[in-house]
Amino acid sequence: MTSKPTTTPPSSGGGEALTQADEELLAAAREVLPRAHCPYSGFRVGAAVRAQGGEIFAAVNVESASFGLTLCSERAAIAAAVTAGAHQLVAVAVVTEGSEPVAPCGACRQLLAEFGERMRVISAGSGTQPWVTTMDQLLPHPFLACPDHEGDDGAS
Ligand code: THU
Repeated sequence: MTSKPTTTPPSSGGGEALTQADEELLAAAREVLPRAHCPYSGFRVGAAVRAQGGEIFAAVNVESASFGLTLCSERAAIAAAVTAGAHQLVAVAVVTEGSEPVAPCGACRQLLAEFGERMRVISAGSGTQPWVTTMDQLLPHPFLACPDHEGDDGAS
């Protein structure tokens, strides 16, 4: 298997203007991108999430020799945010070195939705316009909680 991962955003861009906050989040994701650990795919991905309070948490994809253990950058960034006590996320930026924006995978969409059902999503490659969308577009009708579960929600 030598092919590189491909992405499936709609014809890129979408026309929505980037805000200064979007640019800042993209810059945070680009800053960590060189630290991606991707010896198997060679596909670097950087992500940055913004918490409701404005704090930014960035992370990269981390691959494993046991391929299925690979951690995408989006989920790594969520883990960093939660570790710092941030449970409500308002935006995520995703960057790659490829020319096209990447579409967050299904597993990442599930976890992103749990921390921000209507989160803004900004995805950028090296060429074309960034793709701006929202989590409710990417994952309508998400599964958000176990019905009738009475446990420690950990969201202190
Ligand atoms: N990857 C991400 O980190 N985020 C995405 O949105 C898509 C895929 C990573 C996982 C793996 O390390 C590499 O990209 C190739 O699939």
